[in-house]
Amino acid sequence: MCHATNQMSRAIALFNQAGGVGKTTITQNLGYQLSTRGHKVLLIDLDPQASLTTFMGIDPDSLDKTLFDTLVNEEPLFILPSLHGMALAPTNITLSAAEIQLVNLDFREVRLSEALDRVRNDYDFILIDCPPSLGLLSYSALVGATHVLVPIETHYKAFQGTNLLLQTVAKVRKRGNPKLQIAGFVPSRYAASNSQDKRTLKAIQAQLATVGTVYEPIPRLTAFVDASEEQVPLAVYDPKHPVLKILDQLAQQMEQLNAS
Ligand SMILES: Nc1ncnc2c1ncn2[C@@H]1O[C@H](COP(=O)(O)OP(=O)(O)O)[C@@H](O)[C@H]1O
Ligand SMILES: [Mg+2]
Repeated sequence: MCHATNQMSRAIALFNQAGGVGKTTITQNLGYQLSTRGHKVLLIDLDPQASLTTFMGIDPDSLDKTLFDTLVNEEPLFILPSLHGMALAPTNITLSAAEIQLVNLDFREVRLSEALDRVRNDYDFILIDCPPSLGLLSYSALVGATHVLVPIETHYKAFQGTNLLLQTVAKVRKRGNPKLQIAGFVPSRYAASNSQDKRTLKAIQAQLATVGTVYEPIPRLTAFVDASEEQVPLAVYDPKHPVLKILDQLAQQMEQLNAS
């Protein structure tokens, strides 16, 4: 596989096969923070449910070109160049058809990576919002990524899928992408007032620290839901919101990652 010549271009897959754990929210808001810190950012919406596309203010059904064309027809990535200071490769429900059609196509698991190779030099950070599954789309994201960042809910169910998730990362490292690095875990939707959340956070910190950095938790806040309903990043919805400090700190930590 031919990888980036831009050594500092990092492609981070936001990956967890569980749904509703904050992947899309963190993709959008981390991307926004990185862009305000002066980085060129491309967001990739790899979930057929198109939440990221919607959160960014685009009607998925209005799109003539999507990731379907890239993955199935091997066209260059279709990119909307400027949404809240970021670029977006949008998607819609046709991506679920792509996942089925890809099963019969050659080099299916490297198609996303190869499409990314054509644009890696144009961006400092590429954030890939994975679907809630361990299927071909998520696998493609891990093959094309330099790093995987795992949002993990501070809920008792948090550990249920973690082994499977880490096994998938290990499998990709062995076969498709030996250079894939674990950027770490972002505890998400954390309610500090809830004793179960507190216990789970401690367990996440104790058990996953050996695997990767466990970052500061993202609190559970209705402001995130409100911002997504307004189809804007939280920083646009409420520029003075205190949680932006945590997101900015996470962005700073992503700047420390090395792409090899
Ligand atoms: N920190 C948070 N606090 C409160 N609600 C959140 C938070 N993060 C995400 N949400 C909400 O939870 C739902 C699922 O989040 P989402 O980012 O779409 O998860 P995923 O992409 O993992 O399925 C969305 O309605 C979103 O607005
Ligand atoms: Mg999502």
